Parts: sequence; structure tokens; C-alpha cells
Amino acid sequence: MPNNHNQNSRRSFLTKLTRGVVGATLFPSIVTARDQQRNITEFLQRSQKFSANDHLQIALIGAGGMGTADTNTAITVPGVKLMAVCDLYDGRLADAKSRWGASIDTTRDFREILDRKDIDAAIIATPDHWHKDISVAAMNKGKHVYCEKPMVHDISEGAAVVAAQTKNGVVFQVGSQGLSSLGNEKARELLRDGAIGKLNYAEGFWARMSPSGAWQYPIPADASPQTVGWDAFLANTTKRPFDATRFFRWRNYRDYGTGVSGDLFVHLFSSLHMITGSMGPNKVMATGGLRYWKDGREVPDIMLGMFDYPETAAHPAFNLSLRVNFVDGTGGTNYLRMVGSEGSMTVEWDKVTLYRNAPTADANDPLAKTKANGTQGKEFIYDRKAMLPPEKMEYTAQAGYKGAHFDHFYNWVTAIRNQGKVTENSLFGYRAAAPALLCNDSYFKNRIIEWDPVNLKLVNT
Ligand SMILES: NC(=O)c1ccc[n+]([C@@H]2O[C@H](COP(=O)([O-])OP(=O)(O)OC[C@H]3O[C@@H](n4cnc5c(N)ncnc54)[C@H](O)[C@@H]3O)[C@@H](O)[C@H]2O)c1
Repeated sequence: MPNNHNQNSRRSFLTKLTRGVVGATLFPSIVTARDQQRNITEFLQRSQKFSANDHLQIALIGAGGMGTADTNTAITVPGVKLMAVCDLYDGRLADAKSRWGASIDTTRDFREILDRKDIDAAIIATPDHWHKDISVAAMNKGKHVYCEKPMVHDISEGAAVVAAQTKNGVVFQVGSQGLSSLGNEKARELLRDGAIGKLNYAEGFWARMSPSGAWQYPIPADASPQTVGWDAFLANTTKRPFDATRFFRWRNYRDYGTGVSGDLFVHLFSSLHMITGSMGPNKVMATGGLRYWKDGREVPDIMLGMFDYPETAAHPAFNLSLRVNFVDGTGGTNYLRMVGSEGSMTVEWDKVTLYRNAPTADANDPLAKTKANGTQGKEFIYDRKAMLPPEKMEYTAQAGYKGAHFDHFYNWVTAIRNQGKVTENSLFGYRAAAPALLCNDSYFKNRIIEWDPVNLKLVNT
């Protein structure tokens, strides 16, 4: 297949470097352009066509840790108003009223929220096994959706979400917030400009150690069949007697969660696909084990995933290696590193560090040979040294940057108000979730999985 991903890219980076654009001025100019684009006055004027009272009226479904964080960020976007909250644990509904005001309506039944005409959009931050059903139901009621990652719980569920978004023409965005960050945008630009040469490898890891990092979340003292909507929690999966541990530590169980790959790898797939323009790997293989957190969980606490990305028009062929270790004494480290023929970069949401390979004096370099021969004769050859570009460059976000989470909500709200588009829509979200979910399938089935990321199909199964 023809590709143009490397043509002139190195020259482009070096030209910008020579002009001093890459190192300093380009970054502020991007920020300035964004600031202009994000003019608040213009923003509020635009909102008038969307809702009778000038607000984008939203509801939260799943008011736990991330749903609360999402809502706290969403309501800082001008003109966004929280109307109602749904959760299956009464304690979370009480928390919602004390946090966001007694006027917020609360319910255990997400359908009540979706039936309301005064709600324009919903944040869905339930455990993973409810993402597909609630997203599809919401879109079929004409609601715009912000659905937490991973978009679906099983590889078979993605097509229904894509179809519902297509049919209803709503804005649907998955919640891998890093994708909207300044760091990802910078990394994409640097890769495109050839700053690391030709991409051949990427790697990421998460090191954790604490009980909460390993998903041993607190179980409220009042948890009971009276305070928890247990039957509703299980309505789309295997029926079991009430079990507060399963409800509050749902990530540990395969009926509800998607293991470390669905929790963490999926963020990296989203970022990597955005930076490279990739649709995903065609080969997925995983290994790992349950080494330490033997608390009844059904998923490994150490997982290694390897992924082959085939050459496409957007990028060369490259390999990806991902790792999670919940028993890592170093604790608390995350990492995404991209490696090319001329350097590497580590990508964070508010910072990119670029490492350029130092030029080496290679004896096989024809130019080096000529110089060596020349100095043996009478003629003086002045081997004048060149100015070298820096070998390490750090790009950091301007002070006051609101961060990836705000950017992600801003993009979602702006797309709703302008009938626009978001990058992390259902198709993108499915392509990011797929390798994470297939990683679990590879681990549990103990085999390599082949995937067609263009047509979203398993190969040879
Ligand atoms: N983007 C991120 O960085 C990020 C970080 C953490 C979690 N997440 C995602 O957010 C989602 C929630 O994770 P969490 O850590 O907040 O979990 P959590 O357990 O803290 O919250 C989940 C909430 O959903 C409620 N719930 C369960 N089933 C429901 C249903 N059918 N209807 C309504 N409410 C229901 C639970 O009572 C609970 O309050 C997950 O999909 C997770 O992957 C994303």
C-alpha cells in the first residue's frame, strides 16, 4: 500500500527547528489560536439555539468516583447545567444532592432520566457492563452521550453503539480524556514533522501498589439489598445473591469489569491512535497472572500485552508493548513512549519530552572516509564542526492550562452546540476498546488473536 507518512517529514521537523519554530514559538501560537477559538462570549451566544433556558442540560448516570469527577468538570464549561442524577446505591444519590444541590432530581432508574424532554445529554459512568445498553437507549431517545471508557464490555457490543450513533445523529464521545490534551496534540505534530524519524515501536506501563490502586475500594457500612439496586445491577448479566463486594469492587469480576486492559490499556490505545492516525493492531497477544491481590478477583494483577500495528497510509508498521503491575514497589508511575529511527518521545497529557539521537561518527559513512583520506595528504582539510540541535526538548503546557479533562468536555459540549464532530466518537471508541478487550480474550483463551481494525472483525475465529 502506498504511504506518505514519512515523506519530507524529517525535513519539515528540521526546517522548523532551524527557524526556531519547533522549540519555542510554535507552542504558544497553538495556545493563542485555541484561546481565540474558545472565546467564551461567542460560546454563550451559540448556546441559545440549544435549550429554552440557554443551558445545555445534562444528567449523570452512575455517580461513583469517575461520574462525580466528570460532572464536576462538565459543569465548569460555561452554560452546562446538571439536572438529574441516577445511581443504584442510595448513598451516592444522597451525596449527589449534598454536592450539587437539593434541586437535583435523583433516581435509581436510568430510563426515567432518558424519558425527560428537558435533558439534552447524559454522562454515562456506570461499570463497564452497562455502557452499551445505556448508551444505545440514550441515543435512541435523542440524547447526546459522554460514555466512560472502555466504550463496551465485550468486542461483540461495539457495532450496536456505532449503529445507534449513526441512526440518531447525536454527539457521542468516549471518556478517554487524554485524547483531547495539549500533550497528545503536540506528540501528533512532532511525529508528523518527523521529530523521531520513522516510528517503529511504542510502549506503555502503569505501576501501582496501593489497595485502592488495585481496586480494593471501600464498601459502605450501610450496603444492603435495601440501599443497593442489586437486581437492576444484574439485569443484563448472570443472576447471583446479593454481594456488596461484587457491587462496590466490580472491576475485579468479569461480568462487570474489563480487567486492567479495559481500565488502563484503553487510555493508551486512544492516545496512540490519535497521535498516529491508526485504526488499531491486527495481532493481539497477552500474558500475565494473579500474583498478589488474591481477594477473590477473577482477573490478573500483572498483565503484559503485545500488539502488531500493520503499515497503513497513516503510519509505518510498528510494535506496541503494554504492561500493568499492581504489585510494583515503585508505585504510581505511568508511561507512554514512542520510538523512531531518529529519536523517541515520552507523551504526557501536559508535557512531551523529545529525545533526538546524537549523531555518531560511523566509520562506514562515506563522508567520514573522505575526510580521513584528505588529512593524510598535504592538503589541509578543515573539518569544521556543525551546530547541533538539542538532543532533548521538553514541551510543557502553559501555566493555567485547565487540563485534558476540561478539554475533553469542552470538545464534547462544543460539538453538541455546533452540530459538530468529536474525534473520540463511537467508531474511534470501538477501535480503541477492541485491542484492550481482545487482550483479555487472548489471556483467558491462551492464544494470539487476529483482528481486522478497518472492518472491525475478528480474523480466523
Ligand atoms: N476516564 C478515566 O480516567 C476513568 C477513571 C476511572 C473510571 N473510569 C470509568 O468510569 C466508569 C465508572 O468507574 P468508577 O471508578 O467511577 O466506578 P464506581 O464504582 O466508583 O462508580 C460506578 C457507579 O455506577 C453505579 N451503577 C452501577 N450500575 C448502574 C446502573 N445500571 N445504573 C446507574 N448507576 C449504576 C454504582 O452504584 C456506582 O456508584 C467505568 O467504566 C470506568 O472504566 C474512567
